[in-house]
Amino acid sequence: MTSELLKGLNQHLTLEFRAAHEYLAMAIWLAEHDLPGFAKWMTQQSSDERMHAQRIIDHLVERDQKVKLPAVAAPPMDWKSAEALCTHVLKNEQDVTASINNLYAMAEKAKDRPATIMLQWFVNEQMEEEAAARAVLGRIRLAGNTGVGLLMIDQELAGGTMPGMPAEPADTAGN
Ligand code: FEO
Repeated sequence: MTSELLKGLNQHLTLEFRAAHEYLAMAIWLAEHDLPGFAKWMTQQSSDERMHAQRIIDHLVERDQKVKLPAVAAPPMDWKSAEALCTHVLKNEQDVTASINNLYAMAEKAKDRPATIMLQWFVNEQMEEEAAARAVLGRIRLAGNTGVGLLMIDQELAGGTMPGMPAEPADTAGN
């Protein structure tokens, strides 16, 4: 593996752990604000993010490459609204996608086939994660950021019936 790609993959771990930490903080805020469906979605997303970091760590360990775990900043614990929170989720996912695309290009340039194949999974996963965040945000903008509209979306998320996103928001199998 090139030193550039190794450095890039280690740096990418920061984004995955940051997302895991932020989504957990969001799940707490959502539960505090009586939105258990949203909280369930964010709790699942948080554990998916840790699984994403683990995938990269496993790849590096298998290839006898040095893993450097990052420091993780304390996440925001307060949000103006569910819409503001979901806007931040989408922005997070777009940042992760940009980083994955950059790593994929690096791996291709280095003709590093194992890394390219490993990163291909992330390319697909990011498409789904962005689509899910956009779907929730779109529903909030349609139905409203408070009251009955928000409760309806919360019930959709609780029951796994949100249109535009998978019933299980992400791959929970760790594969
Ligand atoms: Fe692991 Fe949601 O990006």
